Amino acid sequence: MRVLVTGGAGFIGSHVVDRLLVEGHRVSVVDDLSTGALHNLDRARALGFAEADLHALDIASEAAGEAIRSARPEVVVHLAAQPSVAVSMRDPLLDAHSNVTGLLRVLTAARDAGSRKVVFASSGGTIYGEPDPSTLPLTESAPLAPRSFYGLSKKYGAECVRLFAEEYGLDQVSLALGNVYGPRQNPQGEAGVIAIFAQRLLAGRDCVVFGDGLNTRDYVYVDDVADAFVRALDRGSGLINVGTGVETSVLDVHAALAREAGTVSAPVHEPALAGEVRRISLGVGRAADALGWRPATPLADGVPEVVAWLREAGRG
Ligand SMILES: NC(=O)c1ccc[n+]([C@@H]2O[C@H](COP(=O)([O-])OP(=O)(O)OC[C@H]3O[C@@H](n4cnc5c(N)ncnc54)[C@H](O)[C@@H]3O)[C@@H](O)[C@H]2O)c1
Repeated sequence: MRVLVTGGAGFIGSHVVDRLLVEGHRVSVVDDLSTGALHNLDRARALGFAEADLHALDIASEAAGEAIRSARPEVVVHLAAQPSVAVSMRDPLLDAHSNVTGLLRVLTAARDAGSRKVVFASSGGTIYGEPDPSTLPLTESAPLAPRSFYGLSKKYGAECVRLFAEEYGLDQVSLALGNVYGPRQNPQGEAGVIAIFAQRLLAGRDCVVFGDGLNTRDYVYVDDVADAFVRALDRGSGLINVGTGVETSVLDVHAALAREAGTVSAPVHEPALAGEVRRISLGVGRAADALGWRPATPLADGVPEVVAWLREAGRG
């Protein structure tokens, strides 16, 4: 199958690209390398991904639309986005450039290219806003009430993909991802507490916890997420959570990483950040039914993978 992956040079996107190539699909990528990196595609190159398959373009540009139309993908997997809650709160216009204008460029191009399906990376950690704790883990019928401009754009994205599908006859699915972690997550980025903490702990530096650290997230391993995306090429529609159903506090993540890195260090606390929710976990019943997908990697198995990758990459 011909599959075009936007954001394919990013953390999650590059794992999706690898998995697609292993399964024998023809893959092209549109990525402006703003937060992604060419080295994320090293494994893809070893699997046959060529330079000409990468279009280093801003998804909001007309040139990106033309690249998508020329590639005539059967499925567009749309992961390119401004990925940080904090950036979206500082600069909502920057967020909207990629996450609203860019999204519309990709969707109109997919429609014009005659694509069969769009698979969109939404965000289960932000679209639901601050849930009633008694309703955790959340099902997809929970109210959507984002607390950040990033979350709002990911809610809009899922709605927009659905409307495009209704109007133009494409299939669609929006995967509402938990907090994804694993090798290749940028430890210099503004999102991705596991990568950031792991690198700082390995370097013997303090980790900053915003707020009391009792806020929880649903951490899901990147290989499992890539598996969900590949299954979604020809299964599933509408909004589907991709998480684990397990809540883990930031303090517990810090402790697990410190153990793995072999350090003893207490985190430094700073005031909580705007736009962040207090507690979240995502029910995965619909993913099991619609995609035949279940998370396979508990945090206890994923954390050592991240630490080992940072050590190997010389980043620790
Ligand atoms: N990492 C998570 O925990 C998580 C959780 C929920 C949703 N998501 C979503 O998954 C997707 C991938 O996130 P990630 O964690 O891999 O982040 P990432 O920053 O590694 O990947 C995003 C990729 O998109 C590219 N990109 C950004 N803006 C672009 C633009 N205007 N034009 C072309 N390319 C552009 C970047 O260069 C990068 O390669 C994003 O849509 C993100 O919102 C991530």
